[in-house]
Amino acid sequence: MTITRVFSYLFVGLISSITMAQAADFEPLPGQTAVRVCADAFNLPYSNKELEGFDNKIAAIVGEELGLPVEYYWFPQRIGFSRNTIKKVDPETGKFLCDVAMSIPAERGMYLPTKPYFSSIDSMVYRKGEGYELHEIADIAKLKAQGKKLKIGLFDRALATEFLIKDGLEDQIEYFQMMTGDARVNSGRIITEALASGDIDVAFAWGPIAGFYPTQTDVAMTTVPLNEYGSHYVFNFGMGVRQQDTAWRDLLDKILEKRKDDIAAIIAKYNMPSLANVKSSAHTKKAAYTVEDGKVDSKTYAGWRLFNSTCFVCHGQNATGTDIAPNLLTRLEGVSEFKFRKTMLHRYFGKVNLDDPARRQNFLNEVAGEKAAAEFKMPTWSDEPNIRPHISDLYAYLKARSDGALGEDAPEQIKK
Ligand code: HEC
Repeated sequence: MTITRVFSYLFVGLISSITMAQAADFEPLPGQTAVRVCADAFNLPYSNKELEGFDNKIAAIVGEELGLPVEYYWFPQRIGFSRNTIKKVDPETGKFLCDVAMSIPAERGMYLPTKPYFSSIDSMVYRKGEGYELHEIADIAKLKAQGKKLKIGLFDRALATEFLIKDGLEDQIEYFQMMTGDARVNSGRIITEALASGDIDVAFAWGPIAGFYPTQTDVAMTTVPLNEYGSHYVFNFGMGVRQQDTAWRDLLDKILEKRKDDIAAIIAKYNMPSLANVKSSAHTKKAAYTVEDGKVDSKTYAGWRLFNSTCFVCHGQNATGTDIAPNLLTRLEGVSEFKFRKTMLHRYFGKVNLDDPARRQNFLNEVAGEKAAAEFKMPTWSDEPNIRPHISDLYAYLKARSDGALGEDAPEQIKK
């Protein structure tokens, strides 16, 4: 234990005995001597070593409420974060390296989540004073029609890809890599470098990034939340603990509740895009597919064609499964389009290129090979320009099949 730690502990204990009495609800857990946070040292607006991020400030509140010092275990926030931090035991002490991760999705996954403390949506950022205003993605297409082609910067998994391709803006996109080799470089550079310098004219980024980084450059910029995505794409974030640490989670929830106004005030300083005008997704529900006299609408038809050009390789001609991939008809029971989309775009990370005829043949040969069953995983489709814009078509086809509205024969299209 370092001197400063002992000192700050005593300091809190001695000076604020009045608030301590008041905060009697918040006894630390048995044996707990510090709030031990797993965080990224170079990841503003969330956290950094200088403790300037909103997560640093929220962690300080937790420390305050428990009368404990806050300690950090630093690790780059990327794939492998939880494995290398909150779930890893220090061989020297026999204790986990840290006990709470901040700004993690508020749904049960890798962590046991607390209640959320902020929500956000993807946003776009552009330079002020260029003679145009952007309120939604469609405005970029309008400028294109007037002969002004804006250069669009995008991370390769961004949902915007789909919208931009639908609006015919694909040739204006420049893709940026989310993870660079250097842990100190984060996604804010799309704004402070590419957008500020004029290499691109519009940057798409996750709300906290899109709100914060324009405040870190001298170039005047406007941040616009992508309200047209709808409330389905507003995501909530809280803290995360290990699955078994329910008492710790409950304690954190109580602190978040008690200090929610202070926490909201902290977040507000980071220029988070407003969620006030996000369209409600609840009202946009349409039937996924139409089947009349055995004939289908154009979406369902497009989905069938696409399925039989790409997905059948693993899932089988009728989507009923093979040795290497599951029956999608049973798997789709009760699955919403939203969930299907998430699965297709965000659950898996491997890539196969089935577009190129030579690679495709090669792939088919491998699939037919012995070890295939063990080795082939569902690919990700998030970077696949032929699939990504057609996820809802695929859903229409598979849903119609799964519901029993459509059989195995090649469908005909309803004539308009
Ligand atoms: C390279 C082989 C392969 C291809 C091509 C492929 N899949 Fe898959 N898919 C799999 C495997 C393997 C799984 C099971 C993964 C798992 O269990 O986590 C899977 C799982 C899925 C799931 C999730 C099922 C569940 O567990 O709920 C969906 C949905 C899906 N695939 C749809 C598609 C669609 C649509 C296409 C075509 C665009 C496609 N897949 C192409 C191999 C493939």
